[in-house]
Amino acid sequence: MHDGRKIKVGVLGATGTVGQRFVVLLADHPFFVLHALGASQRSAGKTYALAVTWKQTRPIPAVVRDVAVHECSPEFFSDCEVVFSGLDADVAGPIGVFPCLAPLFAANAPLEERFRSADFAVFSNAKNHRRDPNVPLIVPLVNPRHLSMVHQQRALHSPPLQKGFIVTNANCSTTGVVVPLAALEKAFGPIESCMVTTMQAISGAGYPGLPSMDIIDNVVPYISGEEEKMEWETLKILGGITEGDDGRKEFDMHAKQPLRVSASCNRVPVIEGHTECVSVRFARRPPPSPQQVREALLGFTSDAWTLSCPSAPRHTIFVHEEADRPQPRLDRDYQAGAGVSVGRVRQCRVLDIKFVVLANNVAIGAATSSVLNAELAVCKGLI
Ligand SMILES: NC(=O)c1ccc[n+]([C@@H]2O[C@H](COP(=O)([O-])OP(=O)(O)OC[C@H]3O[C@@H](n4cnc5c(N)ncnc54)[C@H](OP(=O)(O)O)[C@@H]3O)[C@@H](O)[C@H]2O)c1
Repeated sequence: MHDGRKIKVGVLGATGTVGQRFVVLLADHPFFVLHALGASQRSAGKTYALAVTWKQTRPIPAVVRDVAVHECSPEFFSDCEVVFSGLDADVAGPIGVFPCLAPLFAANAPLEERFRSADFAVFSNAKNHRRDPNVPLIVPLVNPRHLSMVHQQRALHSPPLQKGFIVTNANCSTTGVVVPLAALEKAFGPIESCMVTTMQAISGAGYPGLPSMDIIDNVVPYISGEEEKMEWETLKILGGITEGDDGRKEFDMHAKQPLRVSASCNRVPVIEGHTECVSVRFARRPPPSPQQVREALLGFTSDAWTLSCPSAPRHTIFVHEEADRPQPRLDRDYQAGAGVSVGRVRQCRVLDIKFVVLANNVAIGAATSSVLNAELAVCKGLI
């Protein structure tokens, strides 16, 4: 439980698309106080107002305007207990190298690992650590129970850590789809198959993102690595944790009831908000009706809300009755971007049920997820 003390936090990649959202969310937060900002060498030494290309609808918060931006090195964040990372994947961490190898290259270790080794709690948006067997991949509205893996991560680190850990959030499209899938599995038992086609906003690629000549009047039917991420991450998030005879814990990847996910990812000329068309087949026969599915989605409450996390949406999933909703421009700010919107729940002639989901890729798909994960870690006594 939060003891009322404000915890000093820093933001890595504070000038980027996700970093700016962190700054907005943390400028006035009941648990956290924004204390340090980091970005690349290009930005270091400048005030935040000079370093950033501010793209938010509200002005730069006064508390950070004149704060100096530092390089992302632990010594500049020494008063902080927590860092939120909106770093590019090529500097956040290695790909395919597990943290147990970090000491082998500690001097030049990727940035998030340097912060963890220096005993910071790191909440990451980058893809690098999502497949790590000791790193929880958490969508805060779905699987906060996976935070328990942090104890093993600390114990297996060399040397073992007292406070440090890395927790990642999911890919922004994965986040949108797993929220309704979790609600449906909770109500009706395992889902066997899921087909999902995404229409992803351009802000998902960071700023400045795709050249306007490539995306205006166009759809790009390929986003590198995205389909594999959705197909794999969904299993880690919706699966459980098993414990071997030696006490070692493992993510079970939904093994008790195998789940097949097929994703097709497209970039569309929308600024913010990923729309996804989803079809599912349940293990249970007969499957639930569209009306039962609507009721289950509407009635779903997250543990983050039950634990009174300040950023948790009161209503996790809004279910539209109108035939032409959800739409990104109208619905991306539902519950300040922390909730997801579902519509067009209907029978599928190939699988069982199909629907459309919309999630704000920079809010619940990125910064809001990290902040909620940190709130959950506070509520569970991990910070
Ligand atoms: N955008 C989304 O919707 C979204 C959703 C989920 C996850 N993500 C993930 O979140 C991360 C950030 O994405 P973004 O869209 O915010 O990217 P972005 O707009 O390109 O911002 C990248 C940030 O990283 C900093 N940076 C770059 N190189 C650095 C270095 N060598 N050392 C320190 N800092 C460095 C940049 O600082 P400078 O300004 O100084 O260059 C900037 O602050 C990525 O890993 C992305 O995959 C993004």
